[in-house]
Amino acid sequence: MVQQVLGVVAPGRDEPVRVETIVVPDPGPGEAVVAVQACGVCHTDLHYKQGGISDDFPFLLGHEAAGVVEAVGPGVTEVEPGDFVILNWRAVCGRCRACLRGRPWYCFDTHNARQRMTLTDGTELSPALGIGAFAEKTLVAAGQCTKVDPEVAPSVAGLLGCGVMAGIGAAINTGQVGRGDSVAVIGCGGVGDAAVVGSRLAGAARIIAVDIDDRKLETAKAMGATHTVNSRTTDPVEAIRDLTGGFGADVVIEAVGRPETYRQAFYARDLAGTVVLVGVPTPEMKLELPLLDVFGRGGSLKSSWYGDCLPSRDFPMLIDLHQQGRIDLGAFVTEEIGLGDVEQAFARMHEGDVIRSVVRF
Ligand code: APR
Ligand code: ZN
Ligand code: ZN
Repeated sequence: MVQQVLGVVAPGRDEPVRVETIVVPDPGPGEAVVAVQACGVCHTDLHYKQGGISDDFPFLLGHEAAGVVEAVGPGVTEVEPGDFVILNWRAVCGRCRACLRGRPWYCFDTHNARQRMTLTDGTELSPALGIGAFAEKTLVAAGQCTKVDPEVAPSVAGLLGCGVMAGIGAAINTGQVGRGDSVAVIGCGGVGDAAVVGSRLAGAARIIAVDIDDRKLETAKAMGATHTVNSRTTDPVEAIRDLTGGFGADVVIEAVGRPETYRQAFYARDLAGTVVLVGVPTPEMKLELPLLDVFGRGGSLKSSWYGDCLPSRDFPMLIDLHQQGRIDLGAFVTEEIGLGDVEQAFARMHEGDVIRSVVRF
C-alpha cells in the first residue's frame, strides 16, 4: 500500500527546508519501510541543504534515526515487522574488495534501497545518506536496519546511527585506544564528545579535550575528559605535551575538519602515536607539512569513516553498555523537537547551543 506521510524536504541550494507530504511506496525485494521514531539533526543534513554534498535536489533530509519496521519486501530475512532498529548509511554487499578485506564501511557496491520516494507531484526525492528519516516513514534497504533492544529511548538509539557512532568508533575502532593511553580530542562538539566517551570506555588514563568554546569544554568534562584546553587562549600542542610528560598523546582525535586543527593533531601526538581524523574538511582545504616531520615522527595518520563501525556488532554493544549505565548516551540529547522545527535546529546547531536536537515522532 503506497502511503502519504510528512517529511522534511530541502527544495534547493540554501533554501529553507519545508515539511511536505511525501509518497512512500511498498517495500520491494530486499527493502523495508520503517516508521521513524526519532531522528537527530546532524551537520551533514545542513551540508545537504546548502548544496555542499550534491546537487541532487530535492533532498529528503535526516539520517540519524531509529524506528520500528512496518513492512518488509520479498526475500527479506534480516528484520521483520515490529522490530526496533537503528538505520545505517549503507547496506553492505559482503562481496566487494573492501568487504572481503574486512572493511565493509568502505563497501563499493552498497545495496541501499533504490530512490523511489517522491513528492505528491511525482518529483523524485534524494534521501540523505540513503536514509531520509526526517519523515514519519521511510523506505530503506533491509540491510540498513540493525535490530537493537526496544527498551532503549528512541532518541538515544537514533544518535548511534551517525555522529555518536562516528566519535566512539574513532576512538575504539580507528584509534584503537588502549588501557592507560593518553588521548587528546580536538573539537568537542557531538562527535568529539563521543570520542571522549569512547576513549573513557577503552580505559584511557588521560583524556585532554581541546576546543575554542568554554561551554563545549564543560560538556566534554562532564562526558569524561580529565583535562581541558581552550585553544583560543592556549597553544594546544604545548598544552598537550605538558600534560603528557613532554611527549604528546598516544592518540589524537581531530573532530573539527580544518587545516589548523589537522596540523595541531599532527604535532600533538607522541612519537609513533596515532592521529585519527574524523572532522570532514572542504575540497579547497590544504595542509603543508615538512616531510622530515612526517617521516621523523613515525606512527600513523588515519581517517575514520563512520567510526570504522560494523553496525551489527557495534550498535547492539553500545546500546547494551548504555542500558547498563556504563556510558550515558542520553547526555547527547539536548532537546526533542517536532518535524517543523528542523530549520530552527540548524540555527541552534550553528550557534553551538546544542549537542543534538532530535526530532521525535
Ligand atoms: N579548534 C578547536 N575546536 C574548534 C575549532 C578550532 N579551531 N573550530 C571549531 N571548533 C569546535 C567547535 O567549538 C565545536 O565544539 O569544534 C566543535 C565542532 O563541533 P560541531 O560543530 O558540533 O560538529 P560535530 O557534529 O561534532 O562534527 C565535527 O566531525 O563528522 C565530522 O562533519 C563533521 O566535520 C564535522 C566534525
Ligand atoms: Zn561490499
Ligand atoms: Zn550525520
